[in-house]
Amino acid sequence: MKRKVTKAIFPVAGLGTRFLPATKSIPKEIMTLVDRPLIQYAIDEARAAGIKEFIFVTSRGKGALEDYFDHAHELESTLRRAGKDHLLEALRDTNMESGAIAYIRQHKALGLGHAVWCARRLIGQEPFAVILPDDVIAAEKPCLQQMVEAHCETGGNIVAAMEVAADKTSAYGILDIREDMGALVSVKGMVEKPDVKEAPSNLAVIGRYILTPKVLQHLSRVKSGVGGEVQLTDAIAEEITRSNNVYGFRFRGQRFDCGSKAGFLQATVAFGLAREELHDEFIQFLISMTATRKAAE
Ligand code: UTP
Repeated sequence: MKRKVTKAIFPVAGLGTRFLPATKSIPKEIMTLVDRPLIQYAIDEARAAGIKEFIFVTSRGKGALEDYFDHAHELESTLRRAGKDHLLEALRDTNMESGAIAYIRQHKALGLGHAVWCARRLIGQEPFAVILPDDVIAAEKPCLQQMVEAHCETGGNIVAAMEVAADKTSAYGILDIREDMGALVSVKGMVEKPDVKEAPSNLAVIGRYILTPKVLQHLSRVKSGVGGEVQLTDAIAEEITRSNNVYGFRFRGQRFDCGSKAGFLQATVAFGLAREELHDEFIQFLISMTATRKAAE
């Protein structure tokens, strides 16, 4: 019988150097898209997919992230007294059920693979999800939910994938496709950040995974790879060799790389425009900015 996916790992122990100096004191995952931190988008997506246990792999300086999920009793009672129910409602999504959330420390930023491995004792013998909160995905049906549904059919391991421009393959893990079945592809290999000439395809892996515990066993053995980091890609590639049980999944939606400045700005525009209460004022502003720029050129 296929096991349900009820646990998700959120690796949030990276240094976030691309956002220095902001990330000197603010965790990247607390940075705000419109009015919610990146981590809230990730949690909402996980909840929609049926996740019940949320495992954060954190590091030094991420205290703000832990505080974010605590009850803010004083703030809540002030809002209650003032009758600000809509604000109380907004806070409700930040509250986590007791015992639903766990924090594990990654003592040194040795790479994404190492961060996931740090959570191994909380996973046990069931499939689990991995969500990278700096990949924010706008989708009618949340991306992880789409993947959980696909997983009910396939079992095994599923990585979210999207086509990228050929000259961008060196920024991603890239899939070597065995069979293309449309939304799903079966995979015969996976390469981390290949040069354009060596890339087996232009189908890139982004920050959503459903993995089997076997991948955690491979992580115990893989040596550091590209960039001197322990790569999750290498452990998944090992699983492909051993079990032939890895699929790429072309999700429906638009992914924003909020780990980069350009991606974060694009997400701010897209999510700002998607908000009914902001749309008109914001679009007027964008139009006038574009016109001013054009006139100046
Ligand atoms: P990134 O490659 O974006 O690295 O990590 P980073 O440190 O967060 O940011 P930059 O590149 O220095 O700007 C992708 C994901 O993996 C996590 C990060 O927190 C992020 O969610 N990660 C990365 C870890 O948890 N531990 C690590 O050792 C490395």
